[in-house]
Amino acid sequence: MKGVILAGGLGTRLYPLTYATNKHLLPIYDEPMIYYPIRTLVRAGIREAMIVVSGPHSGQFISILKNGKELGLNHLEYGYQDNPTGGLADGLKVAEDFAEGKPITFILGDNVTDADISKSVTSFTTGSVMFLKKVPDPERFGVPVFDKNHPKKLVGIVEKPVHPPSQYASVGLYLFDHRCFSVARKLKLSKRGQLEITDVQNYYIRDGSMKWEELKGYWHDVGTFDSLLAANVYWAKEKGLKV
Ligand code: G1P
Repeated sequence: MKGVILAGGLGTRLYPLTYATNKHLLPIYDEPMIYYPIRTLVRAGIREAMIVVSGPHSGQFISILKNGKELGLNHLEYGYQDNPTGGLADGLKVAEDFAEGKPITFILGDNVTDADISKSVTSFTTGSVMFLKKVPDPERFGVPVFDKNHPKKLVGIVEKPVHPPSQYASVGLYLFDHRCFSVARKLKLSKRGQLEITDVQNYYIRDGSMKWEELKGYWHDVGTFDSLLAANVYWAKEKGLKV
């Protein structure tokens, strides 16, 4: 399967750190943040990837990632999202030709995890898979809604709900068949003015072809100073630093 990494946006919550570079190029201990999602794809057996960049520092990705070979990729393409604040589903659309009508693994450039999703990737055929993680603050994420009578049956997903319908966050890691692109092309802007990935997920839930799995292992979405620090501390310890 091919992989798509979304690494655009302005990273405004991390100003002034992101005045001079893109958020995904900031360090997580000894490596740029973007290495981590690429390693997640490589660990899953993916060797061909597209990275979708946007915003004023887009050119810096090439100096760091080059052709992707140092990270274990055979082929790395770059895509450019015109609007850095267009939303995740807007970024996904950029990869339509690259996907060539086949399924993709889609990962957000700020999701750092040590999870091994190779089994899910290898056995994927059609529909979509979402990965869930129990968190103390689900209101910061896309949150799945489960059927009251069948607690494992998904009935929807809501983006950053004030009153979360469950304790789970939807991880920024998705398996989609080719329909995700036509769904994304038809989406309307959400209240926050973006094309939401949760609206793509809701299409598959309504269609009855969405599966979910609990993500095993460490996972962090890095978008704020606190989560950036927490991810740095975790990976520094993991890589042997005595902090
Ligand atoms: C995005 C998605 C959200 C998902 C999260 C995971 O949120 O919109 O559904 O749970 O990534 O990292 P954002 O990082 O744009 O706030």
